[in-house]
Parts: sequence; C-alpha cells; structure tokens
Amino acid sequence: MKTFTAASIDALPQRTRANLMNCASGLRSALLVGTRSSNGTTNLALFSNVFHVGAAPALIGMIARPKPEGTERHTLDNILSTGCWTLNHVGQSWVSVAHQTSARYGGDTSEFEALGLHEEWIEDFAAPFVARSMIKLGLTLEQHTPLTVNDTHLLIGRVQLLRCPAEIMRDDGTLNMAGVDPAVACGLDSYHGVNSAERFAYAKPNQPPERLD
Ligand SMILES: Cc1cc2nc3c(=O)[nH]c(=O)nc-3n(C[C@H](O)[C@H](O)[C@H](O)COP(=O)(O)O)c2cc1C
Repeated sequence: MKTFTAASIDALPQRTRANLMNCASGLRSALLVGTRSSNGTTNLALFSNVFHVGAAPALIGMIARPKPEGTERHTLDNILSTGCWTLNHVGQSWVSVAHQTSARYGGDTSEFEALGLHEEWIEDFAAPFVARSMIKLGLTLEQHTPLTVNDTHLLIGRVQLLRCPAEIMRDDGTLNMAGVDPAVACGLDSYHGVNSAERFAYAKPNQPPERLD
C-alpha cells in the first residue's frame, strides 16, 4: 500500500499529481459535449466530470477546466455565449474517436468534421447531438459559478431533451446502461467497459439488502 498526505501530493511532479488525482475519485462516464459557437462552428469535447444535481427540476452539472489568459476553451465559451449544450454518452466501440476530441483543435475547426462524427439536430434544440451516441441529453444553462478554489467553472444545466433506446428503460424509470455498451473513463487516458448490473431495492436500516431481478 502507498499512503499520500496533502503535503506529499503537493510535492509530486505536476503530471503525476494530475494523473493520480484524476484517477483517485474513480471511474466516470465518458461524454461528448456538443456545442455551437456564436459564429456557427460546431464543437465537440470529451468530458468526464459530469454529475447528477437533481431531478425536480432535472439538473446536470459539469466542471470545465480553468481558462488562463491566452488559452482557448471552446466548450466553455460556447456554453456561455449560447446558453446550451448537449451530452452524448460514448460507446466502447468508438472510444478512440471520442478520445481524439480532447485534442486542441482550433476554434474554426469542427471536431465533428475533423473526426467524421455525424451531427444530429433534434427538434429546434440549438446545440448539436452526436448521431451515433445511444443516450443524449440537451441542456440549457441554469447556473455558472466560477470556483475560486481553483479557477474551474461549475456549469449546471437544465435537461430540455433526453433521448435513449426504449428497450433500455425499465418500468421504474431506471436505465439498463449495460445495454448501450458505454465507456467509462479513469483519469485522462483509460477507458473501461461496464458489466451487467446487480440491482437492489431501496435500502432500509432494519432490513437486509434485497436483490432485484
Ligand atoms: C477522459 C477525459 C476526460 C476529460 N474531462 C474533462 C472535464 O470534465 N472537463 C474539462 O474541462 N475537460 C475535460 N477533458 C479535457 C478536454 O476534453 C480538452 O481540454 C478539450 O481539448 C477541450 O476542448 P474545447 O476547447 O473544444 O472545449 C477531458 C479529457 C479526457 C481525455
């Protein structure tokens, strides 16, 4: 076993520290964030810091990296200028192309075009979805909070659209995620598959765990 303290984490080389801390909070879904700039260029970027905030209203949050002077952060800029974005779950079979969206393409290049991913426009939602993604959401910006602790940006969006295959949705509203073969990310360079679920009923203090079929 290895034990790190705050001081020994701070003392690690920058890249090692970034990798360790990116992995230490565990596996997270790999999602492509679809946006469009105010001049109409579409953009895709891989994000894994995406989380459930609440169901009523339906809110999803994500963390965008800091934007030091002179750097380009297309996803953040596009969300702040247009007020909307899409989240598109990545499948294991196309994880390499999804990973490639994390490269720093210029602001006038659409990752959709550069990587051969097809855009899908659903109803009149103003940001592009990824056609081959099996689960996709359209969000509008409800709250943007720059986090003073490390200059990252908390973006909370309201779910305006959700599209998923009918056969993965159970009667109780849960989704059988294994049915879409999703990729989950560990840190910035590893992707894993997902096994079928073990499901349990709502836990109660005086009852043993009850398995669901
Ligand atoms: C597995 C993985 C997960 C990532 N998660 C995030 C994230 O949650 N937030 C973020 O700001 N960048 C994240 N990135 C980095 C962005 O994908 C990368 O900075 C990208 O170039 C941003 O593109 P943009 O300038 O078009 O927004 C991640 C990269 C990888 C490989």
